Amino acid sequence: MSTTKPLPSTDRTGAAALRAALLAADFTADGLLDLLGAPAYAALARSETVPAVRATRGEGALETLVRLFLLQDALPHARVAQALPLEQAVAQGWLTDDGELVRATVDVRPYGGPDGEDWFIVSDLGCAVGGAGGIGSKDEGVVLGVGGASTTLAGITVRKPVASALDLGTGSGIQALHAAQHATRVTATDLNPRALRMTALTLALSGAPEAELREGSLFEPVTDETYDLIVSNPPFVISPGARLTYRDGGMGGDDLCRSLVQQAGERLNEGGYAQFLANWQHVEGEDWQERLRSWVPRGCDAWIVQREVQDITQYAELWLRDAGDHRTDPAEYAARYDAWLDEFEARKVKAVGFGWITLRKSAAAQDDPSVTVEEWPHPVEQPLGAVVEAHFARLDHLRAHDDAALLAGHFVLAEGVVQEQVGLPGAEDPEHVVLRQHRGMRRATKVDTIGAGFAGVCDGSMSAGRILDAIAQLVGEDPVLLRDRTPAQIRLLVEQGFLEPR
Ligand SMILES: C[S@@+](CC[C@H](N)C(=O)[O-])C[C@H]1O[C@@H](n2cnc3c(N)ncnc32)[C@H](O)[C@@H]1O
Repeated sequence: MSTTKPLPSTDRTGAAALRAALLAADFTADGLLDLLGAPAYAALARSETVPAVRATRGEGALETLVRLFLLQDALPHARVAQALPLEQAVAQGWLTDDGELVRATVDVRPYGGPDGEDWFIVSDLGCAVGGAGGIGSKDEGVVLGVGGASTTLAGITVRKPVASALDLGTGSGIQALHAAQHATRVTATDLNPRALRMTALTLALSGAPEAELREGSLFEPVTDETYDLIVSNPPFVISPGARLTYRDGGMGGDDLCRSLVQQAGERLNEGGYAQFLANWQHVEGEDWQERLRSWVPRGCDAWIVQREVQDITQYAELWLRDAGDHRTDPAEYAARYDAWLDEFEARKVKAVGFGWITLRKSAAAQDDPSVTVEEWPHPVEQPLGAVVEAHFARLDHLRAHDDAALLAGHFVLAEGVVQEQVGLPGAEDPEHVVLRQHRGMRRATKVDTIGAGFAGVCDGSMSAGRILDAIAQLVGEDPVLLRDRTPAQIRLLVEQGFLEPR
């Protein structure tokens, strides 16, 4: 694969004809799953092709398209002509034909939208067939297809209808494609002009509205604009030098992510959300949460979730393998590994955190920003867009209600919350009680018996204060003292989504 190879035409008529042929052959996410079976389908998503090769030995149109666009085989002219309008696809640059064998010029991957849409993600050949060998390309401008990070960001994005959305660092265009479903106007930017072409192809082949495409670094191409939604899965890898545009930001340490977060505030409309995936440094002698708090721009609330932490050796190995460096000469590999550790040592970095950053611009945040920085490495239930939106709505509620107002309010236990009692087998009383959510963030939190009793009664009919009075009578505690000490616990339960204001 070379990133100097020409890309297909972005002409929409040609793309529509190819789209029709792909759909007619059932070259869709569901069609692929049926043909390959779940294990081979999952293996393909991990860039492992052998199981898919075995499952596509037939000669049908669907097998032909999988071989051509996903497995990058060269296939006989006559066979391909039966599966799609060959001449037109060659003329548009989707395929090359030397008279005998036909090859794809790009990777075209079926991708199912949230409402069953049949979409296609177009990316450079070769990056999704590397298997355990890494991406198999050292070309710095390579445009990757969908990865785990892409779908994570798509899943956490708030999907309410908006007028304008920005996808910064659009790559194959997957975030722009999602945004096009609920934003009237979508702008997609990238430092790499090849990525902008790829985004146009993804949108055209998916039958989605066109986006405004702008080339440039970070917010440079949009300095005069503001948006209701900004999303970015940026090149967040903290590396000793920029090598691969899709992952190495080219700024020192975690400066690229910091700049992105700090500058996003000015580019957001009131009530707008900015959502990022990011990496951050854990520096010796510094609290990582404080580091992230300092990134949050003025006028924004923030919710930052650390999903994973890796020590610097794990981190260096992960990204060396990603680029296939472990397949090079051992001495070269060792030298590269050393360079990563040198860089971390110089910056006093002992680990790297990975997670999600959501900002929401709000007038209330000007004087009293609500910033949550937390660690939650456990499984969650995607998509979480609605959960993110609800999180900020609950924070608004808490900010607007002092303790007295909170006690006068009514709360409802969130759907799917259960109580677990933890203690020694056979013991009469539990050592502690855990409330656990089975939806969304799937949080668990320890509560005392008063907290558990309170949550259990919350069906919205009685005010929080009256519930506490009843509990006080039951357990023989002074109701005034109970009213004094419980609001902090109620706030935490509301903040974490166990209780919802009615
Ligand atoms: C990890 S890829 C994400 C692609 C896609 N948005 C997704 O979610 O899969 C990061 C993208 O950012 C682009 N990029 C790299 N440096 C950039 C910069 N300074 N400003 C804007 N985009 C940049 C890369 O070319 C690449 O397309």
